[in-house]
Parts: sequence; C-alpha cells; structure tokens
Amino acid sequence: MSSEKPIVLVTGGAGYIGSHAVLALQKAGYEVVVFDNLVYGHRDIVESVLKVELIEGDTNDRELLDRLFASRSFSAVMHFAAYAYVGESVSHPDKYYRNNVTGTLTLLEAMVAAGIKNFVFSSTCATYGVPKIVPIPEDHPQDPINPYGATKLMVERILSDFDQAYDFKSVVFRYFNAAGADPEGRLGEDHQPETHLIPLVLMAALGHRDSISIFGTDYPTPDGTCVRDYIHVTDLAEAHVLGLDYLLKGGDSQQFNLGNGNGFSVREVIEAARKVTGRSIKAIECDRRPGDPPALVGSAGKARSTLGWNPQYADIEKILTHAWVWHQKRHA
Ligand code: UFG
Repeated sequence: MSSEKPIVLVTGGAGYIGSHAVLALQKAGYEVVVFDNLVYGHRDIVESVLKVELIEGDTNDRELLDRLFASRSFSAVMHFAAYAYVGESVSHPDKYYRNNVTGTLTLLEAMVAAGIKNFVFSSTCATYGVPKIVPIPEDHPQDPINPYGATKLMVERILSDFDQAYDFKSVVFRYFNAAGADPEGRLGEDHQPETHLIPLVLMAALGHRDSISIFGTDYPTPDGTCVRDYIHVTDLAEAHVLGLDYLLKGGDSQQFNLGNGNGFSVREVIEAARKVTGRSIKAIECDRRPGDPPALVGSAGKARSTLGWNPQYADIEKILTHAWVWHQKRHA
C-alpha cells in the first residue's frame, strides 16, 4: 500500500452492517466516505462513532454521484445501501426494485463513467430460495422466493454482465443471518422497525417487549423451529476488507457465502439469550411467518480458502453477548 490511503466509498455506511465495515476499513488503513440516504441509517453513528464524511444522498441521484466521483479519486465502492425487509418487499416490490436494482444500476453506471472498477456487493442467502442442499454451496441454484432476494440476484447478474462488457470487477458476498455487535460496544443493530429474531429477543429480555413470538413450530427441523446460520457482523465486516484487498490486488470477480456453517434453531437462540442475559424471556408459539425457509446454513469454505477469512466469533453465546451489551446501551 502506498503512503496515501486508498479512498473507499461505503454506501449504506450509516446502517448496521455498513457501519461495522467502516470501522474495519479504518482499522485496515483505508480512508472512508459514507454515502447514505438516512432512510434507515443513523446520522449519529456516522458523526459520533465513525467520524467520517457523510454524503446524504440517494443512489438513484446520478448527478450527485457524478459530482462525488469527480471530486476525488475513489479506489473502490462497497455497496451496502438497500432495503432489506423481506415482508415489505412482498407488499411493496416497486420500492425494492427501484432502490435495490435501479439505484444500484445508477451507481454502477456512474462508477463506469468515472473509471472506478472495483465493487464489493452485499448480497444474501435469500438469492438461493428454498435450499436443495444444506450447507448451501455458492454454486447452488439461485431461485429467490421473495422480491428482496430477486433484487439482489438481479444485481449479481448485472455485475457479471458489467465484468464482461467493462472489465468491472466485483466481489459479491451472500450473507447468512448477520447478528451480534461490535465487540467493543461502539456499534450494533438498530433497525426501525425491528423484525429480526435476536434484537427482538433482547428487547424482551430488557422488558421493552412482553415476549418473543416463535414463528412456526412444525418445521421439518430437530425441534420444529427454523434453523439459521448466525454470523457475527464483525466477521462479516472483516470479510469485506479481505474482499476489497483481493480486488485491489487484481483479483477476478467472485461470489462468496459468508456464514459459520452451523445452524441454530429459534428455540436454541431464545434459550442461549436466557443464559447470556440471565433474564427470563417469555416465548409464545405462533403460526409460521410466510416466506421463511425451514433451514438456511451456508458453506463458506471458499471465502476461507480464497480470501483467508477466519471468523472469530462463531459461538452463538458470544454473538448474543456482544448484541446484549449494545442493546443495553442503546435502549437504556
Ligand atoms: N423469528 C421468530 N420470531 C420473531 C422474528 C423471527 O421466530 O419475532 C424467526 C424467523 O421466522 C426465522 C428466524 O427467526 O426463522 C430468523 O428470522 P430473522 O427475521 O431474524 O432473519 P431472516 O432469516 O428472516 O432474515 C435474514 C435477513 C434477511 C435475509 C434473510 C435470508 O435479515 O435480510 O435472512 O433468508 F434476506
């Protein structure tokens, strides 16, 4: 690396995973500019924790992007900005296609016009749909069952076509269930509205909710509840830095799963949360939530072997402990 720090634009850097990636990039010696429309992102996190420049804007704003790319020399873009509520994507698909697909296409066009050709993209295991094999390998057929997953798959396709046409290089990360919080307690998960299991369980432990609902107890899994591969957000962030390093060294476009390869059921997560928090958490058995596959567990051997990724916090209790510290602080 030369003495001048490479500059990376992080879209969605005010959000959950993006903000953790900014910390990891700073630690690795990159200069970061955050681009976020602040619809779901948090200005206070960027200003008081990340302390980086924030460009408030939308990825559909081509003029703004052109001005930004002309203003300094970005080495790469890390693209987290997206809407990510599966249920809302079913009820308002237009919102998802406009933001996640059209917005990303506008960003990519602006990058090509500015000669920036390195891109790290947040994709999802939701692109696989209902898995035929578990753990899911990267070459598993991609057949999403909701518009959210479809938008991410469309961008993956656009990236592959841009590589062919413009020699545009990308690393695509398909996350399993992002969870946990910065081990130093600086950042964590804060969605409005919150729909994810772990933060909701912890809000119940804090007494901000009466109980946690278990969505479905008749799945074909060992205890009847859905199984997910929870991956620590700091391990995800680390993978992004490795993916960026890989691209900047001239690596080819690649797709990687990011998961631990271990599944935990909803009941197991609630039980682990009781242990970690020392609080009683009331659980209520409910009907299935539409669109939930029974089990999603990823095989991430490729990220390990190609990028040297080595997740540090695979333990579900460690993930919950970090999330618990954050939730107590954020929702005191
Ligand atoms: N769940 C409950 N009760 C709740 C909330 C969730 O039982 O109150 C269950 C869900 O049914 C699911 C599991 O807990 O079985 C995990 O649910 P989350 O909402 O935390 O996460 P998802 O697996 O639905 O979603 C995550 C990401 C999405 C991504 C998806 C891929 O948040 O962005 O994985 O399947 F698309």
